[in-house]
Amino acid sequence: MSELGSTLDREFDEQAEPETDFMRRGVVKWLIRVVSGLYAIAFIVPVVRFLRSGSAEEGGEKVTQISLKAALTLKPGEFQMFKFGSKPAIVIRQGPDDFKAYLATCTHLGCTVNYNPGLRRITCACHGGQYDPDTGKNIAGPPPAPLAPLKTEVSSDGDFIVKA
Ligand code: FES
Repeated sequence: MSELGSTLDREFDEQAEPETDFMRRGVVKWLIRVVSGLYAIAFIVPVVRFLRSGSAEEGGEKVTQISLKAALTLKPGEFQMFKFGSKPAIVIRQGPDDFKAYLATCTHLGCTVNYNPGLRRITCACHGGQYDPDTGKNIAGPPPAPLAPLKTEVSSDGDFIVKA
């Protein structure tokens, strides 16, 4: 009786193992697909954001200039982040009448850059990209191109204008 029982147990185990193995493979395949999907999303989202970063639109309309009077209160060496339409932008006061402005979208994968007065560089915290604040030129790290420049001027009525 016990010999028959152990034989039945063995047969039962042999039949059950392939099913368990099949289920394990299914779970592993499912996990691989989920992780692959997450990696694909993590790659595609910044690329799409970067590709869409070329235009500064707000409410579907392209923005070509804005008023930024607060920039006139900056001291030389100071900077201000602002929105140019829907895009982040940065203006740096280099001297009494010397302003530099750029779209603040990193040309690597689209992170927002910032100014580091100590380094005198525009920097990107995402992957260590650096830009020359005088020209916007990419000078270190992975960014493949300069920052998009913006024009600045003080209007006759004393307003500070930033233009595309
Ligand atoms: S997104 Fe700026 S260095 Fe990568």
